[in-house]
Order: sequence, then C-alpha cells, then structure tokens
Amino acid sequence: MRVDVLTLFTAMFDGPLNESILKRAQADGRLDAHIHDIRTYATDKHHTCDDAPFGGGAGMVMKIAPLAAAIEDISSADGAPAHVIYLTPDGTTLTQAIAQELSRKPRLMLICGHYEGIDERIRTRYVHQELSIGDYVLTGGELAAMVVIDAVARLLDGVISADSLAEESHSDSLLEYPHYTRPALWQEMPVPPVLRSGDHGKIAVWRRQQRLERTYLRRPELLSTAILDKADRAFLRSLGWYDSLWTQHPPRRAKPKAESE
Ligand code: ADE
Repeated sequence: MRVDVLTLFTAMFDGPLNESILKRAQADGRLDAHIHDIRTYATDKHHTCDDAPFGGGAGMVMKIAPLAAAIEDISSADGAPAHVIYLTPDGTTLTQAIAQELSRKPRLMLICGHYEGIDERIRTRYVHQELSIGDYVLTGGELAAMVVIDAVARLLDGVISADSLAEESHSDSLLEYPHYTRPALWQEMPVPPVLRSGDHGKIAVWRRQQRLERTYLRRPELLSTAILDKADRAFLRSLGWYDSLWTQHPPRRAKPKAESE
C-alpha cells in the first residue's frame, strides 16, 4: 500500500516510521510511505501556508493554494488514485472496522491540519473521508495520521502473523483475553492453572470466557454487535448480563384481525 502524508511538520513522522513493525513493513515493500511538506508548495517568498479566517475569530486557517497544489501534484504521481482522508476532531471516529476497510485500499492520502484547520473548500473538493481518533483535540493531525498508518499497516498481508490478528481486541467486537508468560509464579501471583494444563480444549473455553467477561465488564455496549453462540450467552447470563429479548426474539406481530371480526 502506498501512503502519502501532507503535513507542515514532516520530522514528526521520523520516529514512528523508522522503528519496529512499520520500519519492517517498509523494508519488505508492503508499506510505501511518503511524507510531503506542504510548505514546499507555497509559492510566496515566505512559503506562507496560513491566513486569518474570514469572519474574524481566533487562530489561523490553512490556505487553499499550497494544499490544493500538493494534493493535485501528489495524486497525479504514479499508481492508483488515492483515497483522501482529512484528520480532524469532527470526523468519524476511527474503529478497527474502518482500519480494516482502509487496509484494502491500494493508496491513501492523509492530510494533516494545523491551527484552526484547513479551508472548508479543500474538504469539499478533495476529501473522501474525515477521521478523528477520539473525542479530544490534538495540536494537529500528525499524531492522528500516525495512528491511522499504524492501525492500517499492521493489517496489510504479511506485516504481522494472521494468528496474532485473529483474537485481538475489536477484531470481532470482543476484547482480548489476558496473556501470561514465564515465570509461572511471580510475587505470589500464579498463572491461571488451566493455561499450564496442556488441555487445549479447556484453554480455548477459558480464553473465550475471559474475552466475554472483559467485554461485559469494560465495554458492555460492544456485546450488541458481537457474534455470540448459546454457550456464550449462557456464560454472560451467569455474570448478570441481560440480553434484551427484543434483539434476540423480535416480538411477534399480532395476527391481523379477520374482516368480519
Ligand atoms: N486533529 C486534532 N485533533 C484530532 C483528533 N482527535 N483526531 C484527528 N485529527 C485531529
């Protein structure tokens, strides 16, 4: 996948892209990341990229011209047309499902705003999707763009093992089960005995129940979209979960009365 990032602060990407899994994904040719400085597209002497807002008010707004020039120049570079994303606190909140959808696109372009944001007409003309990484305001879109790149890149084929992706949090609306490694006893805290029993059937049941219990206790709203079988439901009910009869068994409609009645 090719990812183009448009930013006023290119150096912010140096660390995240040059460590660990993202570094390896690029070395293996699975992620092709290009970080572009919007300022180089500003044609005036001072490379001005911001201006005062029409209508007054605090802060500055990122100008149209440098951004439009950057988007047009970069999207005409080789390859598939880019899916253009603007990072903004008023966008749709990023979820694992959105990361999965994005991981199937051949090319992304991430626009990082700063100051009060970008001129609305850039959003109208070029942007396909607006994403937020949560209900709080950052100093700019850069950290959010890095979060998107990280969440998407790890889903690309071969970047991490398919097994690691299978039962992780949010992959199927359930949180992940707890993990343990050596030593078996640490500060009087033993590893749950089932994990040392060698009984893979029992371990699978224990892990499933841990996922269900964690989700019920921490994020109960996720259970409404999780795929639950009879055993899952029975286990959750034993914890006090109340699965609404309405969602499980839609109420039967009253039989229409016969004309003569
Ligand atoms: N820019 C500033 N805050 C942001 C957020 N929460 N998500 C995405 N982009 C942002």
